[in-house]
Amino acid sequence: MLREPDLETATRSAEETRALGEALGRVLGAGAVVCLVGELGAGKTVLAQGIARGLGVREQVTSPSFVLIREYRGRLPVYHMDLYRLACPAELEELGPDEYFYGDGVTLVEWADAVRDRLPEDHLRVELARPAAEAGPQPAGEDENVRRVRVWARGAGTGGPDHRGYLERLREAVTTC
Ligand SMILES: Nc1ncnc2c1ncn2[C@@H]1O[C@H](COP(=O)(O)OP(=O)(O)OP(=O)(O)O)[C@@H](O)[C@H]1O
Ligand SMILES: [Mg+2]
Repeated sequence: MLREPDLETATRSAEETRALGEALGRVLGAGAVVCLVGELGAGKTVLAQGIARGLGVREQVTSPSFVLIREYRGRLPVYHMDLYRLACPAELEELGPDEYFYGDGVTLVEWADAVRDRLPEDHLRVELARPAAEAGPQPAGEDENVRRVRVWARGAGTGGPDHRGYLERLREAVTTC
């Protein structure tokens, strides 16, 4: 089981999730890997859009069908993987994932659990959840737009990208605004 999250927060709209992503994007460095986990419609792409914006990407990040990875240019290269349509973990190898994971850009991985054993040991894991959906059927209300966001810095954090440091800087940004 996962230990307690290093950071837990909630957003009340897609724009708030985008802003949270933007705050994270601003503090990420070369080699960062951010794994985005959550059900359909949880807000993974919205968060990825914000992260890209925080990294200076001007183009809109989308999740096109039948493309597993898209590359964007910001202050660092941004690689957006969406593994929803991955047929099997081996298919990831066709992308040459280590070029991305251990390169000089930032890799965002939607549906990261599809390749759980193939991820770099060091990464940030972000889980998004809709508490309203988990609570079962209920009248539609503003709770529909609430997302619980939990973040973990994983790995030993020695030598490579400083995921723990990124998370601490995100924490500062979240608590000061
Ligand atoms: N607080 C919120 N944060 C993020 N998205 C929200 C929020 N409230 C409502 N939404 C809506 O939920 C949807 C999230 O869609 P998004 O494509 O980001 O999900 P996803 O996790 O990437 O799904 P998929 O698994 O299909 O890729 C959007 O339509 C967005 O407007
Ligand atoms: Mg998505």
